[in-house]
Amino acid sequence: MNNKVIDKLKRPLRDLRISVTDRCNFRCHYCMPAEIFGPDFEFLKKSKLLTFEEITRLVQLFVKQVGVKKIRITGGEPLMRKDLHKLIQQMNDIEGIEDIAMTTNGVLLPKYATQLKEAGLQRVTVSLDSLDDEKFGKINGRGIGIQPVLDGINAAENAGMKVKINMVVQKGVNEQDILPMARFFRGTGHILRFIEYMDVGNSNGWKLDEVFPKKEIITRIHKEMPLEPIDPNYRGEVAARYRYKGTDEEIGIISSVTDAFCSTCNRARLSAEGKLYTCLFSAKGHDLREPLRSGASDKEMIDLIQNIWHTRDDRYSEERLNNTNIQRPKVEMSHIGG
Ligand code: GTP
Ligand code: 5AD
Ligand code: SF4
Ligand code: SF4
Repeated sequence: MNNKVIDKLKRPLRDLRISVTDRCNFRCHYCMPAEIFGPDFEFLKKSKLLTFEEITRLVQLFVKQVGVKKIRITGGEPLMRKDLHKLIQQMNDIEGIEDIAMTTNGVLLPKYATQLKEAGLQRVTVSLDSLDDEKFGKINGRGIGIQPVLDGINAAENAGMKVKINMVVQKGVNEQDILPMARFFRGTGHILRFIEYMDVGNSNGWKLDEVFPKKEIITRIHKEMPLEPIDPNYRGEVAARYRYKGTDEEIGIISSVTDAFCSTCNRARLSAEGKLYTCLFSAKGHDLREPLRSGASDKEMIDLIQNIWHTRDDRYSEERLNNTNIQRPKVEMSHIGG
């Protein structure tokens, strides 16, 4: 493995997030607002998507020659991609991958959890922003209540997977749900993570005053259920970890807005159409599909990927600390899965 593949800010590449589809069965207003992603919206055609074989070839190179150890499958909603378990199986056969996870809205897990676990998926992260059916239905833009998501969480647990829960917190929308969510998931063994609402993409109309900051999330929970910080599991972990005092029950806070974590960012994102993004907020990705399909050798692909990483100097969230009104085009979240 080539450990020398570091970017301009001396950060290695360890974590590859792979989007397998830009489609989703939800229309969360902070990610794919229904007004923009309507019936006429053109999603990627099948021929534009990387095949599982193309993804697997790339992952082998990323793992063997670039230093990637961790794979996360994302979307859109990854379970909208047919036969996803086959890709998981192919990933699982690659030597050197230490962790395979998936981020999902959960509603298709009752159908697929067992198949995914058998293929080698060890853990899932399920998004859930409220326990109130009506509010959750509004947030997901499809009027879907919480039961299908809870069923998905149970299905994953019953299949033997570890489960984390992601809650995007938006001021004026669901900050009242922080405590109910914390109470509900405490003691279940599932780690709940609170995510500050971010200015991803170009369509969610983000404003700073809609962010409910990490500090206030902690204060709110701490008043009722005292918390203490714990060390990260690994360098570059996105979530700051806390536990309920005197227990091993854990929560996490992801504070890209008020407490940026770019200095240790070792993540790259591969879109469903094969573009490599070196930051969640990049305007443009680097096309890997064209060289793959026109017969590039492994050596050529490795050089290309290493060069992309060598020239990387992204630190968007840190820049945003000084200027919360950065005006520049960004890739849509549904293309790179967050
Ligand atoms: P673990 O592997 O369990 O540590 O999960 P993770 O936190 O890496 O992945 P997940 O998909 O659950 O990400 C949680 C949230 O953190 C999502 O909203 C992501 O968009 C956000 N996030 C993940 N990586 C980055 C990053 O590099 N930059 C920013 N700004 N946000 C990120
Ligand atoms: N801000 C913060 N988190 C977001 N997610 C999607 N859009 C946003 C946003 N604008 C979350 C999803 C999912 C994770 C991958 O990203 O809820 O849990
Ligand atoms: Fe779909 Fe997840 Fe985006 Fe919601 S946040 S629209 S579930 S991809
Ligand atoms: Fe990494 Fe970009 Fe997120 Fe900073 S903003 S942590 S560089 S993905």
